[in-house]
Amino acid sequence: MILLTGATGYIGSHTWLALHAAGMRVAGLDDFSNSSPEVLRRLAALGADVSTFAEADVGDRAALDAVFGRWQIEAVVHFAAWKAVGDSVARPLDYYRNNVGGLIALAEAMQAHGCKTIVFSSTATVYGQPRSLPVREDAALAPSSPYAETKLIGENMLHDAERADAAWRVAVLRYFNPVGAHASGTIGEDPRGTPNNLMPFVAQVAVGKRAKLRVFGNDYDTADGTGVRDYLHVEDLAEGHVAALRHLQGGAGSLTVNLGTGHGVSVLELVRAFERASGRAIPCEIAPRRAGDVAAYYADPALAERLLGWKATRDLDAMCADSWRWQAANPDGYATV
Ligand code: UFG
Repeated sequence: MILLTGATGYIGSHTWLALHAAGMRVAGLDDFSNSSPEVLRRLAALGADVSTFAEADVGDRAALDAVFGRWQIEAVVHFAAWKAVGDSVARPLDYYRNNVGGLIALAEAMQAHGCKTIVFSSTATVYGQPRSLPVREDAALAPSSPYAETKLIGENMLHDAERADAAWRVAVLRYFNPVGAHASGTIGEDPRGTPNNLMPFVAQVAVGKRAKLRVFGNDYDTADGTGVRDYLHVEDLAEGHVAALRHLQGGAGSLTVNLGTGHGVSVLELVRAFERASGRAIPCEIAPRRAGDVAAYYADPALAERLLGWKATRDLDAMCADSWRWQAANPDGYATV
């Protein structure tokens, strides 16, 4: 059985389905602090067994011991963490407690129960301002927010645990920009309040919930002046976790890999693609640059392909079509029902 922490979140829920499709049994853990119990009903409707779900905070050691006591957990995929860069600047201690404290509780519980195989959600933001593109895994690490710092601390903590005990198997996955939704249109991203990220904001403009998109800067040194990112379909990302688990469970060693497509897409390119997918106009207004943003970054995903045999297969049109299917059918996210 594979334990997913943060199982009802955006990436966790898609990974649950990918593991199910790969024939793996899943136990889920989430405290619903940034997700909805409705996700469990949607997962069940898609064929997943959600009877093995526990509602708990990943930092709650007693709850973790109960989970490890109840189910035979062979490996953990650890998503449960907060991820808003700006929020982490405003509430740094909360981020350290939740993200670092949560991982300490989890790793200690794993160790106590003899489970030492973990796939850890990290982020491309550990690279900070990249010195060259595409970004390889051996690029300099320069986290520039408390959020990024908590992820780098997590990476280092797991590597240190492995140095002390070779039985640990650790896959660190550095995600670029996950977007899109499950092809069924029933599972997707449901940000609380105003979306920070581009794709959910664009989707909310398309569905009429917001009047226009503010494009944060059109004077960057990029082809059309707007920011360039490596958008990655969440189903490709979920399949990357399946590949990482298979790699570790097959006895191969620990690894740290980027998960991205390797292609840079500008804000305006994404907006045009979304207009094509949805048939709706996305009104845009050029606004000042957002503090802390970099002009461009995209992955070199070659190492993931070489080590895991994983490669993103869904293109920008599929990302937009799937985001739109989800948004159009669930204009208020999981609260729509
Ligand atoms: N953007 C806009 N308008 C918006 C929102 C975003 O123009 O309303 C632009 C940004 O300026 C940027 C691009 O769209 O150029 C992408 O912005 P996102 O906020 O979607 O993504 P970021 O790359 O800034 O950050 C994301 C996650 C972080 C994560 C980082 C690296 O939000 O948590 O990717 O993985 F750390």
